Amino acid sequence: MASNHEYSKVESDVLIIGAGGAGLRAAIEASENKKSVVIVSKSILGKAHTVMAEGGMAASLGNVDKQDSWKVHFADTYIEGVYINNWKMVEIFSKEAADRVYELERFGALFDRTADGKILQRAFGAHTYRRLCHVGDKTGLELIRTLEDKVLHTDTRILDEVVVTKIVTEDGKVKGAIGFSMREGRFYVFQCKALIIATGGLGRLFKVTSNSWESTGDGLAIAFRAGAELRDMEMVQFHPTGMVWPPSVRGLLVTEGVRGEGGILLNKEGERFMLRYSPKKKELDARDVVARCIYREITEGRGTEHGAVYLDITHKGYKFIMDKLPSMYNQFKDFAGVDISKEKMEVAPTVHYHMGGIKVEPETEATNVSGLFAAGEAACGLHGANRLGGNSLTDLLVFGRRAGLGASHYSDSARMGTIDEKEINDEIERIEAFTSKKNPTNPYELIEQLRQAMSSKVGIVRNEKDLNDALAVINQIKGKLDKIGVAGGVRFNPGLIACLELQNMIQNAELLVRAAIERKESRGAHTRSDYPGTNDEFLKNIVFRLENGQIKMNMEPVMKPPKELQEILLEGEKTNA
Ligand code: FUM
Repeated sequence: MASNHEYSKVESDVLIIGAGGAGLRAAIEASENKKSVVIVSKSILGKAHTVMAEGGMAASLGNVDKQDSWKVHFADTYIEGVYINNWKMVEIFSKEAADRVYELERFGALFDRTADGKILQRAFGAHTYRRLCHVGDKTGLELIRTLEDKVLHTDTRILDEVVVTKIVTEDGKVKGAIGFSMREGRFYVFQCKALIIATGGLGRLFKVTSNSWESTGDGLAIAFRAGAELRDMEMVQFHPTGMVWPPSVRGLLVTEGVRGEGGILLNKEGERFMLRYSPKKKELDARDVVARCIYREITEGRGTEHGAVYLDITHKGYKFIMDKLPSMYNQFKDFAGVDISKEKMEVAPTVHYHMGGIKVEPETEATNVSGLFAAGEAACGLHGANRLGGNSLTDLLVFGRRAGLGASHYSDSARMGTIDEKEINDEIERIEAFTSKKNPTNPYELIEQLRQAMSSKVGIVRNEKDLNDALAVINQIKGKLDKIGVAGGVRFNPGLIACLELQNMIQNAELLVRAAIERKESRGAHTRSDYPGTNDEFLKNIVFRLENGQIKMNMEPVMKPPKELQEILLEGEKTNA
C-alpha cells in the first residue's frame, strides 16, 4: 500500500538517536568500522546534558595520587552503587576509563595540567583518590566540543531538531524509526540495520532539575514500547548543589568541583554541618549522603530564607576561583549578582541524573531487542543505586564506543528491513491527530501537575503514602492523554512536542514510581522514611517489560561478582569504613 503522506526516507547501517557524549562517541566508532551512520537529535548539535558534568571525568590515571588503580575505582563505583550495579560493566568501565581519557586527548581535548605536564586530577565525592581529569569547570563542554569536531570529520549525517516518535521492529528485530523535523515540519522514515539509543535521562519529570528541556526520557519510552527492558527506574540522583536564588535559575548545577577544590557547606547558623554527619569525608561524601544531609538541614529549619544552605569558597580567593572555577564565578555573578570570591552561594539539591534506564549487555550494549543498543544515561547497569560524580563522562566514552562497536558488528550480518507503509501512515496520523482535536486539553497544564507531584512526592526521602499519591496523579493524567492536543501544524510547534513528551513522561513516571513503591528499603539514592535500612532481600534489580500491551515487573537477583573482584571489594570496604 502506498503512503498517503509525504516523507523523506533515510537509510543507514547504524542509526543513533541522541547527540550527546554517548551518541557522538558511538558514531565515531561505527564510522571507523566503515558503517554508514546517521545521528538524529531532538535538540541542536552540541546542546546536551553532557555539558552539565562540569567538574571532570573519572579515571585512575594516578597522575596526582600514584596509589590509584582501576581496582580502587572499581571498588568505589560498586560500593557506592550499593551492590546493585552490573559488576561486569563496572569492571569494563574502570579498566577502560584511562584509555578513553587519553584517546579524548588525542582527539583534541585540552585538559588542565600538573606542574610536570600531566593531566591534572581533582578530588570528587566518594572517590578514594584525586581522580577527576578536568578542564576547569567546563569538562563536559570540552568533551562535547572535541567529539563534535571528530564526528564532523567523518561521513556521519546529522539531522538535528528531529523528534523520533517510534522505533519500528518486526519479529523482535529493529528495522528503523519514524519521526519528524521540527524545523521543516517534514516526516522522516529511518531504515537501519542497528539502532543506538543515546537520548540521556528523564530529569525533566521533576520541577527542580539541572536537566534542560530535552531530558524527558523519550529514548526510554520509545525503547520500552519497542519491547526493551527497563531497569532500576526508581534510582534518581539528586545532586547536592543546585542554585536556589533567584527562582528563574533554581536547579541550575553548581559543580561538585567547588567542593572538590575546597568549598565547604554551612547552615544558616554558620555551622559546617558535614562534620557532624560525615566527619571523615565531610563535603566529599557520596552525592546521596550529602544531598540527604542538606535536605535534613533545610527541613529541620537550619536553612536560609530561600530554602537553601550555604556553599562557601571565599577563603580560596579571586585568583584561585578564576583559575579553577571560572564558569561558577560567572554563573553566580550574572544570574544572582553574587561574587563567589567574596560571598557565600545558596545551594540545595537538584535532580541531576537517572541511574535507571535501558537494560543492556555489558560488553556490547545490546538490549533484549535484536539490533537495538543503548549507551550513556539512557542505559542502565554501571552506577547501581548511586552514581559517583565524574563517572558519567567516562561512561559516555567507554560505553558509547562499545555501543558503536556492538552495533557495527551486529549490522555486518543484519539485513536492511523495509518499513511497512501502513505502519508509516498510522504513525504520521497519530502525530497529526494532536493538531486536529476539538477543544483539546492543554498538555502544559498536565506536565506542570506531573512535575509538581514528582517533586513533592517522589523526592530525596520517600514513603508509601506519598508514592501512592504520586501514582494517583499519574493515573489521572494518563486518563486524559487521549484528549491532549494543540493548535497549529507539525512545523515549529513546541505544543506538539509537549504532547509527545507528556506521553513519554507519564510512561516513565509510572514505572519509576511503581519501582519506588516496590523497593521497600533504603539503598543509595532511594531513601524510604518508612523502610530506613538497606535490606539484602532487595539485592535485586527491578526490571519492567511490555508484554502484549501489559506492563510486567520482575525482581531479578543481582549477579554476584567473581571471587577476584570480591576480594577487591573487601579491600575497598576496609578503606571506606
Ligand atoms: O558537579 C559536577 O560537575 C557534575 C559532574 C557529574 O555529574 O558527573
